[in-house]
Amino acid sequence: MTTDLRIGVVGAGLMGADHIARITHRISGAVVSAIVEPDAGRAAAAAEKAPGAATFSRVEDAIEAEALDAVLIATPGQFHAPVLVPALEAGLPILCEKPLTPDSATSREIIELEQKLDRPHIQIGFMRRFDPEYAALRELIESGDAGNLVMVRGVHRNPSVPDSYTQKMLITDSVVHEFDVIPWLAGSAVKSVEIKFPRRNALTPEHLREPILVIMELENGVLVDVEMNVSVQFGYQVATEAVFEKGIARIGQPSGLQQWRDGRFVVNDHMSFTTRFAEAYDRQIQRWVNAVRDGRLVDGPNAWDGYLVALACEAGVSALEGGIVPVEAAERPAFYA
Ligand SMILES: NC(=O)c1ccc[n+]([C@@H]2O[C@H](COP(=O)([O-])OP(=O)(O)OC[C@H]3O[C@@H](n4cnc5c(N)ncnc54)[C@H](O)[C@@H]3O)[C@@H](O)[C@H]2O)c1
Repeated sequence: MTTDLRIGVVGAGLMGADHIARITHRISGAVVSAIVEPDAGRAAAAAEKAPGAATFSRVEDAIEAEALDAVLIATPGQFHAPVLVPALEAGLPILCEKPLTPDSATSREIIELEQKLDRPHIQIGFMRRFDPEYAALRELIESGDAGNLVMVRGVHRNPSVPDSYTQKMLITDSVVHEFDVIPWLAGSAVKSVEIKFPRRNALTPEHLREPILVIMELENGVLVDVEMNVSVQFGYQVATEAVFEKGIARIGQPSGLQQWRDGRFVVNDHMSFTTRFAEAYDRQIQRWVNAVRDGRLVDGPNAWDGYLVALACEAGVSALEGGIVPVEAAERPAFYA
């Protein structure tokens, strides 16, 4: 492809607007040619940031008008399938924000539909795989330099959440990222999920019981624990400690400006995923654009990975009620090898 890839961004909320700015200012080889957003005010605001983009309220209309070569889906999860289906039927390459769909049954329907095409067309927006620190940790694990990986400890902390955030979203909106990135790091699928509840943080919204400790066993015997904590008040942290046979590795520690002042040592930390993973989002979109332009279409987590995460999330939601819940996946089809 010699001309710029024309991307239609579907959903111009928080993530869609962020991706529109990214494609317009930082990504090479692509332009935002269409914005699909039913909220007229949001559509107009987004269009101002993407010169030349046409606006539509339905993705079918953008496809019919041949206004795009590829689709970036940034609608809420329950509105992914209604966009994925017409985009797949039109044979378009797709970057779909996580999750693929909110449950494994609908994810399964999407992968059945995708398999009617000649090769995978859907990449899922699990951007942690594009974070340089996660990539370095994976390289270390794969190299075997520190011996076998035996345990992983993760923390996923948000300063606070709105009242609309539900108990289930601890899993489906937050731990969903760990369900993708940890199997990718460790090279092994999630075998079971268990959840423990420590003392409740009284500062969390009344309807939430958190933090939670998520314990995952992987097929290769690696044991993982993740502190999921959405009311830490002080900032946004995603960090991982990997325990090997011959050492320990850590990523995601606070970094940047260090200050010694007024008898204190201070290191800046993030307040939001938008800055913590800014580089990862840029790399994710650039690599997807490159893959679409050179015909590979996907360079990152695919729809099968999205389906596995949907299964793990279902186990996680069930584990909120107690017990060790197994995750049982079918064998990965050759189509997704
Ligand atoms: N990768 C990440 O780190 C990350 C972070 C936040 C959100 N997300 C994901 O991004 C997606 C969007 O989240 P958000 O926080 O931007 O949501 P949001 O609510 O801010 O924005 C969603 C937008 O989609 C629009 N919309 C709804 N149905 C639509 C349809 N059928 N066609 C077109 N537009 C439609 C809404 O009007 C809204 O403007 C979700 O899937 C979410 O899980 C990913």
